[in-house]
Amino acid sequence: MRQPLVAGNWKMNGSRASAKELVEGIKAGVASAVKTQIALCPPHAYLADVSAMLQGTPVMLGAQNLCYASSGAYTGEISATMLLDFGCTYAIVGHSERRALFGEDNKIVARKFLAASKGGLTPIFCVGEMLEDRENELTEAVVARQLDAVLESPECLAALGGAVIAYEPVWAIGTGKTASPDQAQEVHAFIRRQIAAHSAEIAGKIQILYGGSVKGSNAAELFAKPDIDGGLIGGASLDASEFLTICHAAE
Ligand code: PGA
Repeated sequence: MRQPLVAGNWKMNGSRASAKELVEGIKAGVASAVKTQIALCPPHAYLADVSAMLQGTPVMLGAQNLCYASSGAYTGEISATMLLDFGCTYAIVGHSERRALFGEDNKIVARKFLAASKGGLTPIFCVGEMLEDRENELTEAVVARQLDAVLESPECLAALGGAVIAYEPVWAIGTGKTASPDQAQEVHAFIRRQIAAHSAEIAGKIQILYGGSVKGSNAAELFAKPDIDGGLIGGASLDASEFLTICHAAE
């Protein structure tokens, strides 16, 4: 049985004050004996505040991005070591917004994956197709290519056992359109098969999260699917009660 994980990706939203209020709200609703792993990925600027507030709770901290290099002349970037310093457990890599808006290709994503895992963080490695890919029946081809960036690198593959995958169809992110539980399950099962071709052991234990307009009202039916091990939550993670409903749905 894989333990469920629900991670909130706040993206570039909120203020220092609203971040504080959101964490207070989430803390108030999380039981100490929660079975689901819960993580919050605030903007880098609020990592220190959120980290301090999460002390003594089971809620973990994650970063939305990191640099592929460990240190040096990379103006504006943040390293895995720095994130670890803040108490981060996770780092999201390859989010579709990073790919589409900041030019991160599969090669860069694989380097970030490696930087996170070498740096002691658990990468949350995102994959997902665009609407036109799905319409052209290219979902599996696109997802396979994204996965291969990691699966075909011996160094990355060696680290895959300590990673999390997030399947996020781009057409479902922030659009209110969710993949149906069956659509999501189909791709999750495909991802697990692709991993199994390299390592059956890792395929059996790796958490594969679904992301894309998950809400309190649709989380339970998605999480009920056998290969969906939780969610990567954007918009709905900015509302404490909505996020808590999603966490409870994973229990
Ligand atoms: P959404 O975002 O829940 O707002 O669709 C998910 C994500 O981008 O991780």
